[in-house]
Amino acid sequence: MSREELIAMTRNLVQHGAADTMEYAEEVVRVPASTYTDPELFELEKRNIFRRLPLMVAPSCELPEPGDYKAMDICGVPLLLTRQRDGTVGAFLNMCTHRGNPVVPSGTGNGSRFTCGYHGWTFKNNGDLIGVSDSKDFGAVDKAALCLKRFPVHESAGLIWATLDPGSKLSIADYLCGYDELLKAFEFDGWTLFSQRTLAGPNWKTAYDGYLDFYHLPVLHKDTFGADFYNRANFFAWGPHQRLSTPSKFAIKVSGDDDQQMDLEELTDDEIPQEVLVQGVWTIFPHISIASFYGGGQRGAMISQLFPGAKVGESYTTQFYVMENQPETEEDIKSAHEQFDFLEIVVRDEDYATGKRQHEALQSGLLKEVLFGRNERGGQVFHQWAARLAHASDEELLEIFAAERREAAE
Ligand code: FES
Ligand SMILES: [Fe+2]
Repeated sequence: MSREELIAMTRNLVQHGAADTMEYAEEVVRVPASTYTDPELFELEKRNIFRRLPLMVAPSCELPEPGDYKAMDICGVPLLLTRQRDGTVGAFLNMCTHRGNPVVPSGTGNGSRFTCGYHGWTFKNNGDLIGVSDSKDFGAVDKAALCLKRFPVHESAGLIWATLDPGSKLSIADYLCGYDELLKAFEFDGWTLFSQRTLAGPNWKTAYDGYLDFYHLPVLHKDTFGADFYNRANFFAWGPHQRLSTPSKFAIKVSGDDDQQMDLEELTDDEIPQEVLVQGVWTIFPHISIASFYGGGQRGAMISQLFPGAKVGESYTTQFYVMENQPETEEDIKSAHEQFDFLEIVVRDEDYATGKRQHEALQSGLLKEVLFGRNERGGQVFHQWAARLAHASDEELLEIFAAERREAAE
């Protein structure tokens, strides 16, 4: 089913490429410049978007084995993810139920139980409280009622989502609008994590705009990879989640010995390789972008995970470089590192450096609006969703995604 949908998108791109056309948005859209600079809106977004919507918190391959865990802070919420003995993932509020100290320091590791560093209470990696230090002295407590608080969690397509609201009624599957079925085409559930790093960036929406935009590629990235890139993209949407890809009838087959140009008009549906079907950039609202690469002798992808920082003009992005298999030879390992380092330079010195200058200029307040052209539908759709979800009540949020689910089922 999802292969059919992927083929239909590829045929759309081929048709437009052959005709030298693209799909346009209805009109040029104006977005208030304050959207990027208003500290109050920024706080609202952290509360109503990042602390209320499902977030893709880790690729599954970051926690492949039972006992693997990761502790991280997202917009002030300490999150603990664990791979439990039965292979499922648990997502917990990383706060000891004694007095709130994070039970696990930020970072990753492996362990089936955690002892709080303050007074020594011990929890299992399924959240159960199993030990109260000097419990006779402490006094009687109901241990079952003092497990770590659980967050809703969902693992699909080799990615893990959690909602940082223990009382959330929004189903993560509904929120994904069927998009994870398509993301399965990457086959991340069998991949491994090669490397990762975190970069500082500008306002989270300024940074995210760049992932939804091919228009800038041959200009901003002319000295690195973009000089020969088409600046056109067609956009496909599932609720707030969007994929963008270049309309073209050609694709480069990268796996195998030589880069080989394929004319997709000449191929039957069955002959189109999987790597061609997932071309382009796949974004997961509100903060993920996925793009395929070829390095270290095999298929890989960079998963960029973006979070708002402490101030309106700050964000940070973790880049996960995931690969089909770990590269084995010295040469392949070196080439994979070089590929990953190159991507860091492009994002840090071109995209985010530009975003930071853009942010400083917007903070002058002298430009009232920014524009998204008919060729920039991704940015238009992203800003519409961000505004709608930041301002929606909890009830409206449920209605919005129930309607998306009904629409997807039709
Ligand atoms: S806060 Fe964790 S044991 Fe006291
Ligand atoms: Fe860019």
